[in-house]
Amino acid sequence: MKVIVAVDSDWGIGYRGKLLQRIPEDMKFFKQMTLGKVVIMGRETFESLPGKQPLKDRINIVLSKHKCFDNKKVTICHSLNELFFELEKYNNDDIFVIGGESIYSQLLPFCTEAYVTKIESKYVADKYFVDLDRSESWTPVTASSPHIYQDIYYRFLKYIKNK
Ligand SMILES: NC(=O)c1ccc[n+]([C@@H]2O[C@H](COP(=O)([O-])OP(=O)(O)OC[C@H]3O[C@@H](n4cnc5c(N)ncnc54)[C@H](OP(=O)(O)O)[C@@H]3O)[C@@H](O)[C@H]2O)c1
Repeated sequence: MKVIVAVDSDWGIGYRGKLLQRIPEDMKFFKQMTLGKVVIMGRETFESLPGKQPLKDRINIVLSKHKCFDNKKVTICHSLNELFFELEKYNNDDIFVIGGESIYSQLLPFCTEAYVTKIESKYVADKYFVDLDRSESWTPVTASSPHIYQDIYYRFLKYIKNK
């Protein structure tokens, strides 16, 4: 299982139910990485998607504890147990955890690779990702050179879980 996330310089990921920043090249990278794959998200993240529509050409799995949450276009799991049962159908390499905060924190222990877009600015945030640079469990293995969008610098990094 892999995780993909965009963080600011404090590892902030969201504010008031929204992303901190939308960088077109990062959106493109996210699409490229997840197309044709399985994406796992929390109900809040699902409802923040444009038009509350599933991500196209991907198997969308949404976690919600509410039995009344219903959507025919996605697979709904009501617990991590249900999720892991559902995931047995798929190749582990094709599974991406895409947020938000609560789903990242519960599933990070099961992930072996992390694709992190690191934005070198600090935003007001109320949701965070674990700081992988301070974690003894993760090692950065690749980092792109800085990219720029408007006045924002960002890099694409890959981390792997230590064995
Ligand atoms: N920067 C990024 O890359 C990135 C990516 C994605 C999201 N985000 C941001 O993250 C924020 C949202 O994060 P969040 O933590 O508030 O919400 P979230 O993780 O997207 O969704 C939380 C919801 O997921 C469900 N859930 C969580 N754990 C569950 C479990 N074990 N079993 C069943 N259902 C479970 C619950 O839904 P019910 O309430 O229905 O039970 C819970 O309220 C937003 O600001 C969003 O923009 C950032």
